[in-house]
Amino acid sequence: MNVCSAPGKMILLGEHAVVFGKPALALAIDLRISSSVYPSSQYSVNGHPMRKKHHAYISAALDEAWNGPPINIDTDSELPSGSGLGSSAAVTVSCIAAMTVSKGKLDPEKIARKAFEVENVVQGSASPTDTSTSTHGQGVLVTPERMSDLLWTISKGERSWNVHHCDVPHLEFVVGYTGIHAATGPLVAKVKKFVDSDENAKMAISRVGEIVLDGVDALGRGDKGKLGKLMDENHALLNLLGVGHPALEVLVEACRGTSFGTKLTGAGGGGSMIALTDDPEKTAKAITEAGGTPIVVEVGCEGVRVEK
Ligand code: PMV
Repeated sequence: MNVCSAPGKMILLGEHAVVFGKPALALAIDLRISSSVYPSSQYSVNGHPMRKKHHAYISAALDEAWNGPPINIDTDSELPSGSGLGSSAAVTVSCIAAMTVSKGKLDPEKIARKAFEVENVVQGSASPTDTSTSTHGQGVLVTPERMSDLLWTISKGERSWNVHHCDVPHLEFVVGYTGIHAATGPLVAKVKKFVDSDENAKMAISRVGEIVLDGVDALGRGDKGKLGKLMDENHALLNLLGVGHPALEVLVEACRGTSFGTKLTGAGGGGSMIALTDDPEKTAKAITEAGGTPIVVEVGCEGVRVEK
């Protein structure tokens, strides 16, 4: 039996705009999904026959990375699914890792490439941000240009994303989960339709790209005040792009008094928001009182790894 695990992530800045080739900055978090792979009489997931519709990511991962006899895949998740915390990327990455691990060694670049293909097939359109962050861990900066600390370049059609390692200083974040499950694919499609037809939406995408690069600078200087302001501005632009949700707004407002900045994270439409804070307990309390589920997370955690 092979067992591998991979972390979820939070997108600190740049979601959605990154699908259009703009920069994004994502941090691995200390909630993981682990996948165990072992021989079986039929293809199955957690002991149930595999069904493409119900196990979209795992079944696409099999198509991408497995050509042996039937296997069972058991998954064990600390991440709420559809929460904007990268559960689909973590399940895909850990699964591909468990299918391809050889002599206890993983090939992160190969895993990141295959996992991106899987997300792209299942979601219709994707950037490599989630899958590369789940693979590499720590911090990941995705940009259209090559910079220092390049990990790999992933291309699809006319787009190329350069994926870089990014150092993560000690920062305290609280996630606020709305409890509303939102699928990424339709939200990405909705933003594309809007951007294709609206000048303000195009400008919002460009501005998000600038915010990310300023954010990398602020992160490097440990300037939480600046980073928080950039998060707030990024959140407003995501609302303009139509991926906000009233339940997210309630949590974002509730955290304002105790944080440097707040924003939705991931695809939006529900899912989660994040708050950068110096007082996680107070921020978590504010989220609970506003009806959300707080998760105090550590950032900059280890990427995909072999567990057994
Ligand atoms: O909500 P998640 O964890 O699926 O994150 C989606 C991030 C997007 O930028 C909206 C899509 C992508 O593939 O980058």
